[in-house]
Amino acid sequence: MAGSITDQTTRRAVIGGAAAVGAGAVLAACGAGSDSGSTSDPTDAGSTGGDTGGSAGDALAKTSDIPVGGGKIFPNQKVVVTQPAEGEFKAFSAVCTHQGCIVAAVVKDTIECNCHGSRYSAEDGSVKKGPAPAPLAPKKVTVEGTEIVLG
Ligand code: FES
Repeated sequence: MAGSITDQTTRRAVIGGAAAVGAGAVLAACGAGSDSGSTSDPTDAGSTGGDTGGSAGDALAKTSDIPVGGGKIFPNQKVVVTQPAEGEFKAFSAVCTHQGCIVAAVVKDTIECNCHGSRYSAEDGSVKKGPAPAPLAPKKVTVEGTEIVLG
């Protein structure tokens, strides 16, 4: 009986030893592989540019997204941002004061609602043409570097 226990123990030890040797061989192979691969792809560093805006969180747009003498509408945030003169940014509610449509376009110095034809000033949100009964509400935006941040 004692002999058979010893047998099993020996066999396990041998199997374990084989596994350890196998793992060692794999690790060695990996090391060799990564060494030979590390010399390539200097171009990788340049391919990450597009997505930096995501990390800022509250940034509405880049200053370069807003045309000088025009503007851009952000329907999700219900905000319209205009740049009447270079470096001078204004923001207004994009909700038309007539019946609540989101304004459709900024054409030069005019914010247009296409639902019933109201027109607002892109400079101060005032009504240029009815039926809108009241100006677009101003919104606060701050320029931080090249980004426009709401609030
Ligand atoms: Fe804008 Fe009527 S909702 S003009």
